[in-house]
Amino acid sequence: MMPALSREDILTTLKTIDSGTGGLDIVARNWVADVLTKDGHVTVTLEVPPTLGPKLEPVRQAAEKAVHAMPGVMSATVVLTAARAAQPPQAKGGAPKGTGRIELTGVKHIVAVASGKGGVGKSTTATNLAVALAKLGHKVAIFDADIFGPSQPRLLGLAKMKPNSDGEKVHPLEAHGVKVMSIGFMIAEDNPIVWRGPMVMGALEQMLRDVDWGELDVMIVDMPPGTGDTQLTMSQRVPLAGAVIVSTPQDIALLDARKGLNMFRKVEVPILGLIENMSYHICTNCGHREDIFSHGGAHRTADELGADFLGEIPLDLKIRVTSDGGTPIVASDPDSPHSKAYISIAEKIWAKLEGGQVQKKAPKISLGGIFGRT
Ligand SMILES: Nc1ncnc2c1ncn2[C@@H]1O[C@H](COP(=O)(O)OP(=O)(O)OP(=O)(O)O)[C@@H](O)[C@H]1O
Ligand SMILES: [Mg+2]
Repeated sequence: MMPALSREDILTTLKTIDSGTGGLDIVARNWVADVLTKDGHVTVTLEVPPTLGPKLEPVRQAAEKAVHAMPGVMSATVVLTAARAAQPPQAKGGAPKGTGRIELTGVKHIVAVASGKGGVGKSTTATNLAVALAKLGHKVAIFDADIFGPSQPRLLGLAKMKPNSDGEKVHPLEAHGVKVMSIGFMIAEDNPIVWRGPMVMGALEQMLRDVDWGELDVMIVDMPPGTGDTQLTMSQRVPLAGAVIVSTPQDIALLDARKGLNMFRKVEVPILGLIENMSYHICTNCGHREDIFSHGGAHRTADELGADFLGEIPLDLKIRVTSDGGTPIVASDPDSPHSKAYISIAEKIWAKLEGGQVQKKAPKISLGGIFGRT
């Protein structure tokens, strides 16, 4: 096994890159705003003075090349962004691309489905909730914000499909009454090399802005695991109505769920509530219910943290098989108890969105506190 890439190793490599301004390297210049790694894919964000931006393309390329040459690195993407300190207040008529809020005018509510930990069933939950909301008569889209591991094409049965474009806007694909956009439509699932060029933030922004979403009641955002760059972009640049946190009953997952929840709280995105996924298991032979992971932890955590508990979804092979087959259980077996559980959660979410309990607030930027930046 390849040793895990550490942030320190990557920073050491970045220290060898000259900033081209007065003999300091890019780390000493304090330009490294974020380092994100997942399975050998590295994304580095350099925050540079806006006036220098275009001149720094060679520096960006040199940094990318150096990180890519590190052992264990499958792909490296270095992104230049304009420094926050120099960011002007958002002007009327739209902020410059790459810095301001991304306004999605036809979209009524945007809801992030998130978790602190990976693999807890965010994508499966996001898909089934979206299909459930569509069944309840709402106009729904899923935005797959997981740039490194997009799931929605497969979950919605749209793998290998490509959305059409009229040259100006991309028309989202649609399945089970839900519109969808995912980086998975642009790149092959097994081809990480494609990630050397495009920029993560740029990709998110483009997918949001350049897609003809039409009028939507709800956009569900399938978030990547953790509290990284995508979460930051989505919670600061997109007017999220709220976040739904998915967790499994294991204590460790719940600790992570807390992290996810606290992150959204810090940027003042309202928490719509917690969902406990893989909560219990009903024996397919005898109907006996088994609490495999000592179920109920999410409910307790929700209470402790002052968040609402939205419901629990059992661990069931049928949920996995239907997901893998591209026919989410709420679409393929809407009368099953599992589908009813999703639909009931979707109803609660909708009631919260429309009930005025959730306010759209401009999130506060407080990077240092959450992400430990200096
Ligand atoms: N309630 C459930 N019952 C059975 N299997 C489930 C359930 N929820 C999710 N799964 C399965 O667990 C696996 C992980 O689910 P999923 O991809 O939705 O998680 P995720 O949190 O989105 O993961 P990642 O963090 O990688 O994005 C999948 O194989 C999925 O089919
Ligand atoms: Mg996922």
